[in-house]
Amino acid sequence: MKTIQLNIDNALQSVSLEAIKALDKAGADALAKVQEGTGAGNDFLGWVELPGELTTAELDDIKATADGLRRDCEAVVAIGIGGSYLGAKAVIEALSDTFEASRPAEMGNPKVLFAGQNISEDYLYELQRYLSDKKFGIIVISKSGTTTEPAIAFRLLKAQLEAQIGVEEARKRIVAITDARRGALRQLATEEGYKTFVIADNVGGRFSVLTPVGLLPIAVAGHDIHALVEGARQMQQATATAGADNISQLYAQTRNALYRAGKKVEILVNYNPKLHYFAEWWKQLYGESEGKDKKGIFPAAVDNSTDLHSMGQWIQDGERTIFETVITVVEQAHEVVIPTDEANLDGLNYIAGKRVDEVNKMAELGTRIAHVDGGVPNLLITLPALKEVYLGQLIYFFEKGCGISGYILDVNPFNQPGVEDYKRNMFALLAKPGYEKETEAIRARLNK
Ligand code: PA5
Repeated sequence: MKTIQLNIDNALQSVSLEAIKALDKAGADALAKVQEGTGAGNDFLGWVELPGELTTAELDDIKATADGLRRDCEAVVAIGIGGSYLGAKAVIEALSDTFEASRPAEMGNPKVLFAGQNISEDYLYELQRYLSDKKFGIIVISKSGTTTEPAIAFRLLKAQLEAQIGVEEARKRIVAITDARRGALRQLATEEGYKTFVIADNVGGRFSVLTPVGLLPIAVAGHDIHALVEGARQMQQATATAGADNISQLYAQTRNALYRAGKKVEILVNYNPKLHYFAEWWKQLYGESEGKDKKGIFPAAVDNSTDLHSMGQWIQDGERTIFETVITVVEQAHEVVIPTDEANLDGLNYIAGKRVDEVNKMAELGTRIAHVDGGVPNLLITLPALKEVYLGQLIYFFEKGCGISGYILDVNPFNQPGVEDYKRNMFALLAKPGYEKETEAIRARLNK
């Protein structure tokens, strides 16, 4: 069985192996809190055993629902934000053809589009215009069922779908994923009679990609959710016990040792643009889990070699408070060989006959050496290929690493109290009922 690998050798110039090993007990204790549910936020640990607990019947139900949407739609809009958006987006982008957006919409192989992840008027206008002559379906996702961004998008698209095909037909093309009992979306779904899936109480948004939240849109995009979950199961087993071969624990200890040595920013690096949104998912996972109590590594990301021509200067020569975690993909899905050109006016014949990936890998290796020489510790994650099973491993590896790392940092990795502040101000500014006092206070402050 091939699995993802983690190599920390190129971090050891900046932080000693002893410093990482000094965290062995903290790492083992943190892992025990995750496995046994004895730490802060332990009511949100449903993701730990989730891959192994997902039954074939549950996966088949998700797949059958996805197949129904695929059969009946040219486009399916997944509505959600944060943890109810990024996991599906990350996996679909990683597994899809890069030029997916430019292929015509077709029944049986719908485009998966996203909404509710922003409040841009132009985005929603252009999405509605695109859908105006399409047979489309909706997957509306909100654990709380009350989040403003997806609620606005759903109100608009529901009305559009009903206008295009009638209320009864629209009901058959809408699937809601939400809490089992609470929230406006649950109530609406019950009243309308939508097909629904439940987000378990004990799985937080950013840990929910392996629930219907992520799995349904991924299946609608035509990807193999059984293989994705199988990969996560493999990593669930591989990271269940403490020790040097637990790569989630090693990752958590190494990044905490680096943080203590002054490396306050972690950059997730890819050399394949298909992983751009994977980094967005990872940023949320680590940012929302660890950035609290005035602590936490700031998670950033670059897409190379593109960003070697923009952020490369800063990474090579800027303030030495960063380290990088590179995701390298061993096997490419396709082969492109650089041709010979007799005139050789571009001077490229020295690489003629080589695969483009060989050049990319040399850019990656050259950058790693330069960065290590320049004082940027490098952690390397090797992915055998961009396939469902390895992405499942990678997702679970990072989730487990995040829980362990947060506990080593001594924060509650499973809450996000800071996210409420902007909402309170926004509701006050919009004069939401129930926010009268806040509205008065914020208006007085702005009118000073
Ligand atoms: O990780 C989280 O909890 C958040 O990012 C949520 O997923 C996000 O705020 C969306 O919440 P909800 O699914 O309740 O609409």
